Amino acid sequence: MNLKGKKVVVGVTGGIAAYKAAELVRVLVREEAEVKVAMTRNATEFVTPLTFQALSGNPVIWEMFGRESGDMEHIAWGQQSDIIVIAPATANFIGKVASGIADDFLSTMLLAATAPVLLCPAMNVKMYENQVVQENMARLRKRGIEIMEPSEGQLACRAEGRGRLPDPGAILEHIKSMLAPKDLVGCKFLVTAGPTIEPIDPVRFITNHSSGKMGFALARAARQRGAEVILVSGPTGLVPPEGTRFFEVRTALEMKDLVLQKAPQCDAVIKAAAVSDYRPKSQAQQKLKKGKQKLTLDLVRNPDILAELGKMKQGPRPVLVGFAAETQDLLANAKKKLKAKNLDMVVANDVSRPDAGFQVDTNAVKLIFKDGRIEELPLMSKEEVANQILDQVKALMEAV
Ligand code: PMT
Repeated sequence: MNLKGKKVVVGVTGGIAAYKAAELVRVLVREEAEVKVAMTRNATEFVTPLTFQALSGNPVIWEMFGRESGDMEHIAWGQQSDIIVIAPATANFIGKVASGIADDFLSTMLLAATAPVLLCPAMNVKMYENQVVQENMARLRKRGIEIMEPSEGQLACRAEGRGRLPDPGAILEHIKSMLAPKDLVGCKFLVTAGPTIEPIDPVRFITNHSSGKMGFALARAARQRGAEVILVSGPTGLVPPEGTRFFEVRTALEMKDLVLQKAPQCDAVIKAAAVSDYRPKSQAQQKLKKGKQKLTLDLVRNPDILAELGKMKQGPRPVLVGFAAETQDLLANAKKKLKAKNLDMVVANDVSRPDAGFQVDTNAVKLIFKDGRIEELPLMSKEEVANQILDQVKALMEAV
């Protein structure tokens, strides 16, 4: 989901990580959220309000008094926004919120807020581990405030440990999770993603162009909407979406074993992975030396995992969704797969298009159903495609 129409208040407190809040605001604006920024006075020592005004396109507030405005923003901002994100949240600010202190605009706004609150602590590792900070965070969690664990790594004070503000992309994913409709709670999804790799010898293998983006978008969106998600992926290098149970495999045979083991416990299986249909008949134990001009590889068929799931399917669950990656006769080929593999829906994509299919961030798909219905989706982000697919899977699950 993108954040169009969502009102997000970003609170910035006085830690060195305040500079990263600028990138968070930029990312939120790019997602079409309406962003307002409030700062503590100390935060203005690290980054100027002008920076946030320029990035958000809205006035920034850091003073409780002395402003020409009578709009009671300290009340309105916390009650008319969809979410309040405090990033970074210093130990001092966490202590104030935990103790109900309201001695500046940001803490006062928070005390009167009715919107959900996400705190992103960032500080020196010893400060973060300090018992009083831990106790303050425990108190806030008890009151329903969401707190995002800081990342591990080198801190601004050169110490190593947990205390880094998470990357803006990770914070954005957390915000989307908090804002997404939880309409898939109680559902269990199995999603496959990425390529498989079929070894030729210890150095070489056969694979394909799948980046994993489509499958990861599906897993992320399902998780954000409250589902329990198992993600089985070939090697992609992508960061698994927060909260998913992630399994990395290499070969089609490994993927098959895991998928056939997990699928029966799931409500829906969505197979976005680009599974190699063939593998070398034998895998050389040593690196093949280039000698003769010609090298012939004998390839044998890999099992068709989705077709095996189709054969196993006795009743309406799991709902089975496959993809069809085609370069010609898209509908005819996709319909053939829908029937041959006993699917409930097939997502057909023309992978010869430069803006769809492998690697890119967008996709243009046709959703084809067992009852003959076809839904053509315009080109959109893989994240939006994922949510459209999930909407249809939800409808299929509810129909049975
Ligand atoms: O990963 P990205 O870079 O984001 O690219 C996305 C994608 C192009 C990989 C994705 O949108 C897509 O089309 N995935 C399916 C690719 C594929 O293998 O399509 P296919 O038509 O060859 O296979 C049909 C279906 O059977 C697929 O659901 C596939 O997972 C499944 N299959 C195929 C072969 C096999 N041996 N076992 C299978 O389960």
